[in-house]
Amino acid sequence: MGLKAYSIYKSFPSKNQIAGRIVAVDGVSIDINEGSKTLIFGPTGSGKTTLISMLAGIMKPDSGEIAYNNLILSKSNRSRISSFIVENFGYIPQQVSLIDNLNILENIIIPHIFIQEKIGELKKRAIELLRILNLDNRIYSLPVQLSGGEQKKVAFIRAIVKKPKYIFADEPFSELDNSTTEKMIEILNEENRRSVAIVISSHRYIALSGKVDVYMMQNGKITEYRENIL
Ligand SMILES: Nc1ncnc2c1ncn2[C@@H]1O[C@H](COP(=O)(O)OP(=O)(O)OP(=O)(O)O)[C@@H](O)[C@H]1O
Ligand SMILES: [Mg+2]
Repeated sequence: MGLKAYSIYKSFPSKNQIAGRIVAVDGVSIDINEGSKTLIFGPTGSGKTTLISMLAGIMKPDSGEIAYNNLILSKSNRSRISSFIVENFGYIPQQVSLIDNLNILENIIIPHIFIQEKIGELKKRAIELLRILNLDNRIYSLPVQLSGGEQKKVAFIRAIVKKPKYIFADEPFSELDNSTTEKMIEILNEENRRSVAIVISSHRYIALSGKVDVYMMQNGKITEYRENIL
């Protein structure tokens, strides 16, 4: 069980006619096991965001296959895939986008309002996470009143508050100081101890504790794999 990608490929049209299409992800196969930790790292432009967005179900591959447990992306109907993703995945995008006219707590809760019976519990957990990340005095602020790094913290909490089974975090620590990064890593480790799978993409190496599947990406391909145990 878990998530498996087989030889996935994604290209984008290039503005430059001569260059043709830009191949962002070039035939990547990767397994994300339940309860595992994965780090995808590599230089800028190597395809990390494109890969993690496909794994998280945000973007469809041009070719190749993705299987979520027994759900095969190209063979299952879209609504079954969508409900699996909504129920099980938390995604922290590289570019944070919050809703301008909602306050911080509302921004965190709004994607999860369909689980009405859990709203009280979600709010409690959101406030606890805001406190750990020193943002509890900004609960009723609007996104525009927060710095870039503070908005990043909000996007992080928004993705993990509903306790998903998989957390996909695209450059979650960029713009953040070391102490905040350490606190976030600790929160992720705590989730992982509850068997949540963590997938992080980063242009720099991050020392995560425990067993980590580390993939190096270059030019759209995985060029190196190693299992790190810290
Ligand atoms: N929507 C798009 N249209 C055209 N080209 C794109 C698009 N998205 C990504 N690319 C190109 O695909 C390649 C991979 O981009 P991607 O954002 O996946 O890299 P990355 O490893 O996440 O980079 P970074 O570390 O800067 O976030 C790059 O050459 C990029 O210019
Ligand atoms: Mg990226």
